[in-house]
Amino acid sequence: MTETKTSNRPRETRSGIIGRPFDRIDGPLKVRGDAAYAYENTLEGTAFGYILGAAVAKGRIAEIDTAEAERAPAVLLVMTHRNAPSQPDFGPAVTPTVPEVFTRARPALNSERVRYYDEPVALVVAETFEAARAAAGLIKVRYDEEPGRYDLPGNVADAYAPKRTNAGFETDSVIGDFESAFAAAPVKVDATYRTPFEHHNPMEPHATLAAWSGNELTIHTSAQTLANFRAGVASTLRIPPERVRIVSPFIGGGFGSKLIAHADTILAALAARVLQRPVKIALTRQQMFANAGHRAEMIQQVRLGTDTDGRLTGIAHDVWSATSSFEEYCEQTAVFARSLYSAPNRVTRHRLVPLDINRGEWMRSPGEAPGMLAFECAMDELAERLGLDPIELRIRNEPAQDPERGVPFSTRNLVACMEEGARRFGWQRRNPTPGSTREGRKLIGYGMAAAIRPNYIGAATARVAVDRDGRVTARLDMTDIGTGTYTILTQIAAESLGVPISSIKVELGDSRFPRTAGSGGSWGAASAGSALHNACNALKQRILDAAQSSEASPLRGANATEASFADGEVRVGQRSASLADLVRRIAPDGFEAEGSVATGAATQSYKAYSQHSYGAHFAEVAVDCDTGEIRMRRMLAVMGAGRILNPKTARSQIIGGMTWGIGAALMEQTVLDRRYGHFVNHDLAEYHVPINGDVPEMEVVFLEEHDDKANPFGAKGIGELGVCGAGAAVANAIYNATGVRVREFPITLDKLLPALPVIAI
Ligand code: MOS
Repeated sequence: MTETKTSNRPRETRSGIIGRPFDRIDGPLKVRGDAAYAYENTLEGTAFGYILGAAVAKGRIAEIDTAEAERAPAVLLVMTHRNAPSQPDFGPAVTPTVPEVFTRARPALNSERVRYYDEPVALVVAETFEAARAAAGLIKVRYDEEPGRYDLPGNVADAYAPKRTNAGFETDSVIGDFESAFAAAPVKVDATYRTPFEHHNPMEPHATLAAWSGNELTIHTSAQTLANFRAGVASTLRIPPERVRIVSPFIGGGFGSKLIAHADTILAALAARVLQRPVKIALTRQQMFANAGHRAEMIQQVRLGTDTDGRLTGIAHDVWSATSSFEEYCEQTAVFARSLYSAPNRVTRHRLVPLDINRGEWMRSPGEAPGMLAFECAMDELAERLGLDPIELRIRNEPAQDPERGVPFSTRNLVACMEEGARRFGWQRRNPTPGSTREGRKLIGYGMAAAIRPNYIGAATARVAVDRDGRVTARLDMTDIGTGTYTILTQIAAESLGVPISSIKVELGDSRFPRTAGSGGSWGAASAGSALHNACNALKQRILDAAQSSEASPLRGANATEASFADGEVRVGQRSASLADLVRRIAPDGFEAEGSVATGAATQSYKAYSQHSYGAHFAEVAVDCDTGEIRMRRMLAVMGAGRILNPKTARSQIIGGMTWGIGAALMEQTVLDRRYGHFVNHDLAEYHVPINGDVPEMEVVFLEEHDDKANPFGAKGIGELGVCGAGAAVANAIYNATGVRVREFPITLDKLLPALPVIAI
């Protein structure tokens, strides 16, 4: 059992560097303010842009008067659809391939059409940000407004089945005969849950500094996946991707909305070309709500039927989700239900209702985050109906192999996670009768939920070099979105090459470096890490080949099959040489090598095994029986996610996800005005996320695990695992505390208080 504790910087040893809780390599830079974020970069002659957004959600710009803005002090350019450089049309609402979703052209200011509220209608560029913003206020726009659709529940009758969900999954899965099994089931739950629009709010907003040098464009921005981002920019500007350089070494949070380019990037690039000056644009926090994607509102119906012993005979998970009328996005909300529990009869379906809003985007743990919030509550409802402990219900439905794919699991420690969690949390103290545990005027409840998240590998290449002083540089276009990528890649290189971490320099976030899959989908560490591991192996081979054959080598003629790299030395049999000394003698210019890893989906191991990370969440809440105030008291997550590369950064990922779970259960909700189509609470004063005072003591435990089907380290994705099921554990704890089941998230006072039992003083 690996316990995660914050510990002092560990001693560097020749092996075992992977798996140690090293502090973040980039931490001091960030604390000192030396890590420059996109908007903090400055170039000689930089001008500042400000975007004006549409004041209607659907219609046409009938008239736009920019004269006054153009005359305003320090204004350099006012760009609208009338004078914006030509770009491709937006294109069809559905893209034929998954890659194209990331790389397609997404033009800005290229039409008089308004497709969603606050869509850019003008850009003002001036000598200062303030001058640009002031001038934007002088632009007069008259719209021909058209009636739009903004109401998911009111338009469910018009739902359609998309061709596939996000990430290319089948829209529906049907096994056996669910309806008959459900009709015949002696115990069943049929529950409908609502989850609201949610918005990612990275601390660093979307921001770009664009500069042209002849035909070459350099973009400093905040991006999770550089190659895709670059391709999208190139498609929109109609230039070859090779002429675009994306620089994004430090990122102030990325939760899916930084996977593709948005208006800040496109408009900065266009304006910089027109003005022949660098142009800087950031989306304001309010603009991010309209222009940088969201998680869509959903209605989810979960139907579960069991025999009298609690063995599931049928599982149905149906999802109706809002989408945009101009570009489809279908979150894979029910896909996890294809693999989590065993049952002979099963249905999962995704349906979309197009609204006149901006497209939904990937948001931390697409699919599981909203899907498990509903499904794992339904499991809790079912357990109560059966009179079974929720953990026992899940154990009784533990599949021996992937129930829909019919292949074995690579590793699956869900039951172990639940059992270990129950022991540590004191689950046996939970009273299964809701509303029965009181401390004064507080109702106390315990809840739990399972977690599952698929393991992905994306194609990646890394380059690694060693110089004559034994210093190692690794370069790849991977990003560190605050997750600890710099640190774990440093650990991987140090362990592989047998040198201390102080000898390693990892350089990320530049599209000139070899291409990786970037940070997304929890695939970053395993994908970039595997590529770097392979690059280090190639480098060692290159060094050994030269060491055997070079005249100047102290290891000349040695049998390299017995070689090892450790303690800064190269050892072959009884002979050894320091790495730096060896390189200096045989290759004064040093050595360089590349290594790659292929997309996991294409590999035999991925086809032959169902690969997921698993976990169990536990939550304790206290609900004030007079006011309905919900306070989190503690949370525990026990995770089985393969080998943990760095328990400290991994723990941070999990507690971040658990915090998202609190938000989803209790607070997060963007209200779409169903009359006018704008997100009403579009700032951090009104869009509530958990803050320190809302977050209780959190414990994270990683089970000892090594998934040799996943990659060379046996590690699996963890970035999104923490949020999967975390909100359901909170909701189930509230039910256990109060006996009130709120199926419309978030569980706010207005929904809970009227249903609370009256308790005499
Ligand atoms: Mo993630 S939603 O792929 O950043």
